[in-house]
Amino acid sequence: MCDNAAMASLEKDAPAGSAAAATRPLALEFCGLRFASPIVLLSGCVGFGEEYTRIEGFSNRDAGAIVLKGTTGSARLGNPPHRVFETPAGMLNAIGLQNPGVDHVVRVILPQLDFTETRFIANVSGSTLEEYVEVTRRFDASPIDAIEINISCPNVKEGGVAFGNYPDMSAQVVAACRRVTKKPLITKLSPNQTDIRENARRCIEAGTDALAVINTIMGMAIDVEERRPVIGNVQGGLSGPAIKPIALLKVHQVYEVAGLHRIPIIGQGGITTAQDALEFIIAGATAVGVGTALFYDPFVCRRINEGIAAYLATHGLANVTELVGTLRTAKDIADCALSG
Ligand SMILES: Cc1cc2nc3c(=O)[nH]c(=O)nc-3n(C[C@H](O)[C@H](O)[C@H](O)COP(=O)(O)O)c2cc1C
Repeated sequence: MCDNAAMASLEKDAPAGSAAAATRPLALEFCGLRFASPIVLLSGCVGFGEEYTRIEGFSNRDAGAIVLKGTTGSARLGNPPHRVFETPAGMLNAIGLQNPGVDHVVRVILPQLDFTETRFIANVSGSTLEEYVEVTRRFDASPIDAIEINISCPNVKEGGVAFGNYPDMSAQVVAACRRVTKKPLITKLSPNQTDIRENARRCIEAGTDALAVINTIMGMAIDVEERRPVIGNVQGGLSGPAIKPIALLKVHQVYEVAGLHRIPIIGQGGITTAQDALEFIIAGATAVGVGTALFYDPFVCRRINEGIAAYLATHGLANVTELVGTLRTAKDIADCALSG
């Protein structure tokens, strides 16, 4: 957890527009963790937290938290190429959870991360319930700040989305992981399912502390000359601006359940601007994830932080949390008119 000294270090030498420069309006508490900004850098888009720090001018301090690449019990090589493909307003990916395995992540990678810069969240995947539990247990005994369980990966044959599409199985994974960690547990929900509200409700009952909404949406692309799927795995997960309206609706739906239980949401899917981030926050997200946008603008977080801070100032709001879930539906407006 971030203490006062760490917060002071976050604010020191902060570049203009960084989260740290505008700490008070943007800072929030998420599952007991202090985030300097509502922005969370998303799993699979920032390697193991070190990748973008090689870009001059990029700072992990601009993000409230960073989610590491999906990690499994043993190392995985991932899927055959092609593994990514650009689509109109988005991209398809089928990486297949390439990662060096939890032992390497805990022993070699975590000690290299600077935990004074931001919060680091592990992203756990597995082919079996036992694998989810084992990886969660390893991260529990590490300095990681929180653990996100990915029951929604569309790019592996077993596990992943197979768990996330069925509320019973989702709840079983969450309950089993809950038993082996006291760290904040975030469950990442799949949009590729019939009733995301029911799944959210079951995950909350099973003990998740927060929900991440949404993972990528299944899609494909075809090479017409070769008459072959472009993606080696045939199908891949669609991300980027193309999925934003879908993601926004899912956050709105999940908030109807999560809001009642005060379970925070990391809203994500196609966020590229402050306007996008504000929409997700108004729909009910306490924090907002940025993934694909980083591939073409590594400094996007700074712009989003600036834009959110400007909106708060213009609208007389002291802190970003005042905006969470403030969506006024037609019914709210009608009720207000009647009571007024
Ligand atoms: C190349 C790539 C790899 C990803 N890998 C993971 C992963 O390992 N675990 C996970 O939970 N989500 C993974 N995701 C999904 C993202 O974390 C995020 O939920 C999704 O891309 C939607 O956000 P965006 O539109 O801002 O990218 C990946 C996404 C991309 C583009």
